[in-house]
Amino acid sequence: MSAVLARKLEPASNGDALVAEMRRRLQERFGSGGGSTGGGGGTAATTPVAMPSLELSAAHCIGRIVSIEGAKLVVMIEIDDPKAQIEMSTSLQVGCVVKVPTKNSVAFGMVNALSIAKPGGKCQGGQGNETRFLELELVGESVAVGTGKGANMRRGVSTYPILGSPVYAATQADLRFVYVRDGLPSARIGSIQQDPNLPAQVNVDDLLGKHFAVLGATGTGKSCAVTLILKAILKRNPHGHVLLLDPHNEYARAFGEQANVIDLHKLQLPHWLFNFTELRAVLTNAGASISNVEAALLNDLITQAKRQFLGQAAEERFITSDTPTPYRIGQVADYIEEVLGRLEKPESIAHYQALKTAIVTLQNDARFSFMFAKSVTTRDLMVPILSSIFRVPVEGKPITILDLSGVPFEILNVVVSVLCRTAFDFATWSRGKWPILLVCEEAHLYAPENPEAGFEPTKRVLARIAKEGRKYGLSLGIASQRPAELAATMLSQCSTIFAMRLTHERDQQWVRSSLSDGIVGLLEALGSLGTAEAIGVGEGIVMPMRLVFDTLPPDERPRSATASFSTAWKTESADDRENLERVVDQWRRQRHDD
Ligand SMILES: Nc1ncnc2c1ncn2[C@@H]1O[C@H](COP(=O)(O)OP(=O)(O)OP(=O)(O)O)[C@@H](O)[C@H]1O
Ligand SMILES: [Mg+2]
Repeated sequence: MSAVLARKLEPASNGDALVAEMRRRLQERFGSGGGSTGGGGGTAATTPVAMPSLELSAAHCIGRIVSIEGAKLVVMIEIDDPKAQIEMSTSLQVGCVVKVPTKNSVAFGMVNALSIAKPGGKCQGGQGNETRFLELELVGESVAVGTGKGANMRRGVSTYPILGSPVYAATQADLRFVYVRDGLPSARIGSIQQDPNLPAQVNVDDLLGKHFAVLGATGTGKSCAVTLILKAILKRNPHGHVLLLDPHNEYARAFGEQANVIDLHKLQLPHWLFNFTELRAVLTNAGASISNVEAALLNDLITQAKRQFLGQAAEERFITSDTPTPYRIGQVADYIEEVLGRLEKPESIAHYQALKTAIVTLQNDARFSFMFAKSVTTRDLMVPILSSIFRVPVEGKPITILDLSGVPFEILNVVVSVLCRTAFDFATWSRGKWPILLVCEEAHLYAPENPEAGFEPTKRVLARIAKEGRKYGLSLGIASQRPAELAATMLSQCSTIFAMRLTHERDQQWVRSSLSDGIVGLLEALGSLGTAEAIGVGEGIVMPMRLVFDTLPPDERPRSATASFSTAWKTESADDRENLERVVDQWRRQRHDD
């Protein structure tokens, strides 16, 4: 029994007399049908609240309120008829919805706990003497609006029920009323676990307006969920602008013709799009050791090279080492060479030499051609690059999938930083003209909570998007296996969370503590959810819900199927050697053929 219930019911569990007293008081208040058999006569038989769409039928009465503590209620269950008990068993499970009439509304609560305060001694037949309780928390209400058109569902409760009020099981019509919105901005992503006939929907504007996160252990269906959510949104909004950072090359096939897939061979991210901190990190990875002295000089040389490239036009512009203006990196290497000629101290000569060598090495490294190839660095490709990445114009492909699997591991974080920062700058400079959704798979890799881990500028820009992106129409979608390891700022800014099965106790704790109290019962299921099941909470969904994501057809799933060892290890294929040679060939060419 939970602490709240234990506290509330201490006297009752101490003896028959107190339970009898409770029943007597309920009878006094509600008449003879009130305190005993559930669903019987008394007020439960009538419909005391003017709710045309919400029937309060005696047959669905499950008991009466015996304790109120804010929005938390304890209900004494009063369905003694075993047949009715079986019928209502689905409404009386943790996480299910029940309804409670108040003076001028019908409130909806979520079951958090069930208990028998005084169990009958026998395995069978003891129920008649048992006192059973249900704990619930109110999460929303429907207030009579007096328009004659029925009432609207809204979060939170403005009017509380009174002690002794009856509580009803939710019918399918009630659940539909609570969970389903037929308006345009809603999109179906799955079904409600309590009633698979009812769709689980997201409200597109609320979901994207304030960021969302999909959290769950490996293999629980996060990538499939992200695919489903995006597909549902793009089906209704085909002119979207989605940028999905795909570190494992999973998503390309899931979106087919809708996606503009950019892999390492198509990626164009000229070095001049990198700001100074990012470029410094790339050069440091390539072996340069850049102290503050060299950094100050490099900063100057980059600004000079930009001016040189712009020529006359530079006069009218405000140029810094961070301005996204083309320049030749070779020019910077030449400047360093000149500086080297004037230096006297051998130790600083070594540093500048290393800096120059790093630049030359990167220019010649095929893996870095997306940054340093002549074709991308000597022309001003800013407009075509932004157009391709952010889908402006959309041209039938509202989503860009950036396959980062080929990006050299040591600079993956820097590349993500450039992409996220460019998204942020683009959103601010375009003043949100093209609302953008930036989806970050494996977000804990880029924005870890641990201050020692990750790349500071990436963390900074992601935190900034989380905090300020909304104002510029830049929304974040995050998928992560390890919420406890993800920067707290990012998750705390996510207004909608889909929590899938989380096996790690720390992750479960983290999710429990950051989500609202009202759904403790739902959150208890975190460790035992099935694949593709989730607890959905937040502004993008009407009410907290346990949902099952729709099943994606095999050819629309991200490429992440779990290997079947038992099948693969049963037989040997005749063309294994050829296949191995093909793998080695693709590995060397750094390119998958499919
Ligand atoms: N909605 C769904 N429709 C169809 N299959 C699903 C769905 N959700 C999960 N699956 C199955 O579960 C497998 C794992 O799902 P998915 O790749 O989405 O997990 P994940 O949580 O992203 O894992 P990881 O963290 O390792 O990336 C899929 O290959 C698929 O077979
Ligand atoms: Mg995944």
